[in-house]
Amino acid sequence: MNAPIAGPPDPASARGPLPGYLDHARIGPLSRRAAAALTAATALAGRADPADLDRLFALGDAARDSAARLLDARPHEITLVPSTSNGLFTVAAALHGPGTVLVPRGEFPANVYPWLRFAGRGGPDVRLLDPDGPRHISPDLLRRHLSPDVTALTVSAADSLTGHLAPLAALKEILGPDRLLIVDAIQGLGAVPLETDAADVLVSGGQKWLRAGWGAALLLIRDRCGERLAPGLGGWAGVTDPFAVRHPAPSLPGAAAHLATNPDFPAAAAIGAAVDDLLGQGGPAAAGIRIRSTLAELLDRARRAGAEILSDGLAPRERAGIGSFRLPGHAPDSVHRALEAAGVITTRRDEWIRLSPHTSTPAAAVDLFAEALRSLARRTTHGNGDTRVGTPGPTRATTSTSTSTSTSTSTSTSTESSTHPKTQAHAHAHAPTDTPTDAQESPCPTS
Ligand SMILES: Cc1ncc(COP(=O)(O)O)c(C=O)c1O
Repeated sequence: MNAPIAGPPDPASARGPLPGYLDHARIGPLSRRAAAALTAATALAGRADPADLDRLFALGDAARDSAARLLDARPHEITLVPSTSNGLFTVAAALHGPGTVLVPRGEFPANVYPWLRFAGRGGPDVRLLDPDGPRHISPDLLRRHLSPDVTALTVSAADSLTGHLAPLAALKEILGPDRLLIVDAIQGLGAVPLETDAADVLVSGGQKWLRAGWGAALLLIRDRCGERLAPGLGGWAGVTDPFAVRHPAPSLPGAAAHLATNPDFPAAAAIGAAVDDLLGQGGPAAAGIRIRSTLAELLDRARRAGAEILSDGLAPRERAGIGSFRLPGHAPDSVHRALEAAGVITTRRDEWIRLSPHTSTPAAAVDLFAEALRSLARRTTHGNGDTRVGTPGPTRATTSTSTSTSTSTSTSTSTESSTHPKTQAHAHAHAPTDTPTDAQESPCPTS
């Protein structure tokens, strides 16, 4: 029988994630500091005296100030929106045509739909780019597509499956001052240093690497491009006099012009506390060293167990906190379930198992992971396992030396691929040694 979903919280949740939790690219369990801020702000909302409301607004402002320090921006260049998706929709609604926005085809869909939806409603056309081998975007790819109609590139700072970090500074240099670099930073911000100075616009929710939970995302719109973004979703909270006799009233200065309404204050308090926590512990540089070191150990153990690592040719500084692998000869779903049974929590995306540790991941996680892989191998060797499919493939690690030279593009909204774009993109670079038939993404699309 399934455990009940509703009901009082399990006291175990107060103890934090399992030691084998390696799934921060899906959800980063709240840090203690973020959880405390969320609880305290919720208590204020539970009373809602005028002074409490003032304090809630102040928490929202403080979160903006903290984000400004993290992103080396001015506070008025930042506002809080409900989610990464909402932030990207806000930007898509603000960016007018004519022109073309470039979107790498393998982008997480949250960074595809806003552009498609607004393309027929005054926004720029959309051109989907096929990636160069294992990298979701490269300076060469951008250079090849930089036709005069291009007004913007939107890209994930870190690819949600390979962990590849976009070379933001190099991309911005190619784009130049007049074309926008729009960055979905949720898979990198809080995990590793990012070249955020290069981003004209940046969006990041708090529920992954910042470990702040849902409900608030940072939206950075730098002054240098503010005039090119007219408040498309900006509502009553984004104007100077919401109760003016005549509308529209003038917009607020800076990113606040794009606010549809007030933020979720407890979520804002949590994301602010999470950013303070990150900065207090040495910032992204310190987090990146620890996360990359744990990830390297995990990938090393996977290699030793015969796994292929997706985009194994990436240098450490080209990868965020994410790495994915598959075990030739084993059904991905069985590997995923065996890991989970051993207390190792990961995400399976089609044939790949994704690992994403954080600074809080204990050394024991690496041991648990290695032991789970060994035990899978033992089950296979003794012939009583159910994990083997087809003939085992070679146990080499992929080296990312893709021969794919595809540069085909598709223009306008009518050319959306019907195949899962990520699967399609990587199919070029990594032909599977066996063809799993049971591979389906988790029913809850949160990664
Ligand atoms: C790269 C990327 N962008 C956006 C999202 C969606 O974020 P949100 O749920 O905050 O809209 C995800 C994952 O869930 C993601 O991996």
